[in-house]
Amino acid sequence: MASVVAERKPTAFGETQRKDPWWVGPTSVLIGLLIFIIYSTWAGLQGNYFEIREDRAHFAGHDVAPYLSPFYAPLLYDKESPHAWSQEPKPSWWPSFLPFSAAVLILAGPGSFRFTCYYYRKAYYRAFWADPPACAVGEPRKSYWGENHWPLLFQNFHRYTLYIALVFLALLTWDVLLAFWWPTDRAGNYLNGSHQLGMGLGTLIMLVNVLLIAGFTFGCNSMRHLSGGRLNHFACFTCPAGGGQPVEKLRPSYYTWRISTYFNLNHMAWAWLSLLSVGFADLYIRLCAMGIWNDIRFF
Ligand code: FES
Repeated sequence: MASVVAERKPTAFGETQRKDPWWVGPTSVLIGLLIFIIYSTWAGLQGNYFEIREDRAHFAGHDVAPYLSPFYAPLLYDKESPHAWSQEPKPSWWPSFLPFSAAVLILAGPGSFRFTCYYYRKAYYRAFWADPPACAVGEPRKSYWGENHWPLLFQNFHRYTLYIALVFLALLTWDVLLAFWWPTDRAGNYLNGSHQLGMGLGTLIMLVNVLLIAGFTFGCNSMRHLSGGRLNHFACFTCPAGGGQPVEKLRPSYYTWRISTYFNLNHMAWAWLSLLSVGFADLYIRLCAMGIWNDIRFF
């Protein structure tokens, strides 16, 4: 097999012998993540237009579609929404001088899962900190701490944020099912508290979003470890590192590990597609709720 040996290790920041446009990847990640962070922060702080209501100018009145923005799911507090878990406008402990948005109570859950994801770590270490900017490109500092020291030690909590992500995935799946249960008929007439089966473009967008998030979650490296029976390797199933279990006992977990590995092979693509879909689902519902876009009802 042919191999190429670099003549000299890069010593200065940005120095490299690479001739390819290595900076395109980190720059694209920087722009993409910045757009998402700015938009999701803005949308999460609005506290409105997370569902479609009758009075679009004032975000008031009864609901006219069963959609709920994924940025606000689960909707813990809202005095009017049928999605709300509590009809209180906000928690009693919330400081009165601070404006309230229900999204700020929950965004840290899925946010912590993505922030500590192995793929995203690589992506934003390169894009935001240039540490390193890319393979075989000079770094800004000489020492390497890894993730064995604070503050990066917290990245090891990723295995626990997986459980949070699975709870959110279940809740989003439930919201998709509810998105088939309409408070209005096909002509848009309010059913006075009754519901009928239906589907709109928003239902489809919410469905695609939850499938992409599922693909991202199931391909998580912590999920592979969990679905594989929390073994460190299968090849040596009779040695202590393999758990010392008979092969028959390993089989079910081996197949669930294979499924998780299938999603893991394109983890980067799932990461970006699900990020795009979650932002677009909020944008679609928000613009329909504001009356800027009109939702399409299929049946
Ligand atoms: Fe990416 Fe776990 S490694 S979500």
